[in-house]
Amino acid sequence: MTRVLITGAASGLGRALALAWARRGARVLVADINAERGAESVQLCMAAGATEAAYLHLDVTQERDFDSAMAWVRQHWGGLDVMVNNAGVAGGGSFEGIPDEDWHWLLEINLMGVVRGCRAATKLFKAQESGAFVNIASMAGLLNPPAMASYNVAKAGVVALSETLAAELAPWNIATLAVCPSYFQTNLNESLRTRDAAMQAALPKLLAGSELSADDIAEGILDALARGEALYLPHPRARAAWQQKLQEPAAFRAEMQAQARKLAGRR
Ligand SMILES: NC(=O)c1ccc[n+]([C@@H]2O[C@H](COP(=O)([O-])OP(=O)(O)OC[C@H]3O[C@@H](n4cnc5c(N)ncnc54)[C@H](O)[C@@H]3O)[C@@H](O)[C@H]2O)c1
Repeated sequence: MTRVLITGAASGLGRALALAWARRGARVLVADINAERGAESVQLCMAAGATEAAYLHLDVTQERDFDSAMAWVRQHWGGLDVMVNNAGVAGGGSFEGIPDEDWHWLLEINLMGVVRGCRAATKLFKAQESGAFVNIASMAGLLNPPAMASYNVAKAGVVALSETLAAELAPWNIATLAVCPSYFQTNLNESLRTRDAAMQAALPKLLAGSELSADDIAEGILDALARGEALYLPHPRARAAWQQKLQEPAAFRAEMQAQARKLAGRR
């Protein structure tokens, strides 16, 4: 049975991933800072068919929490098959309005949280000569849309880290999958830190407008992992935008600039 640790599994995509693995009979460690929602995820996983599900307090900004999590999986399961670095928060707004403290907050969770998760499990995976990372980035990390500088930079970093590890750790039979979803409905807007009223108003609408649910995306991630892919873009429209950026960069840039003018209320 697959043994999987998922950060941020108390809500949204992390919970959907926990349930997707639970439906396959996996052992699931729900790692989060929200104990109440974490306990709900555990109950849901057991009801969905998990062989085992447990909650562990894990703050991705704390290296010692990852050390404890690695000790937990060694002690309870004798190892780990999949480490999902999913925990994340939302932030952004107009560039000059994002102060250092907001940059640090977001990068500590969305980028360094993934770095810490990968580093902690790499030691175990190398010793096992097996394992897989699933790192939840975002289309923001590939397309870099306006008024999301800190989020874009963090997610581009997750894509870069994942691509690096997909090569560097291959000799130990360790796979790395970077996932780049566009917007979909979760509780992500609860974490939003912005000084920009327009962004505050826009995020819930953007999350609600998705054609894919968290469950759709979670199932797609498990399929992409089984196929041995390194980069997974669940949303068809985002895949088209990514192709446009690669093949018609000037047209793509014009589109981003048009979005920025609209946001700024300028022609
Ligand atoms: N929802 C979207 O539209 C969208 C799009 C692209 C990428 N993503 C990414 O998907 C991932 C999951 O987000 P979601 O949309 O499910 O949001 P969510 O808010 O529903 O879930 C995020 C979870 O992360 C946990 N978390 C936050 N800070 C933490 C910390 N320091 N340590 C441990 N856990 C922490 C929260 O408690 C929560 O349970 C994030 O990395 C997010 O950036 C989301």
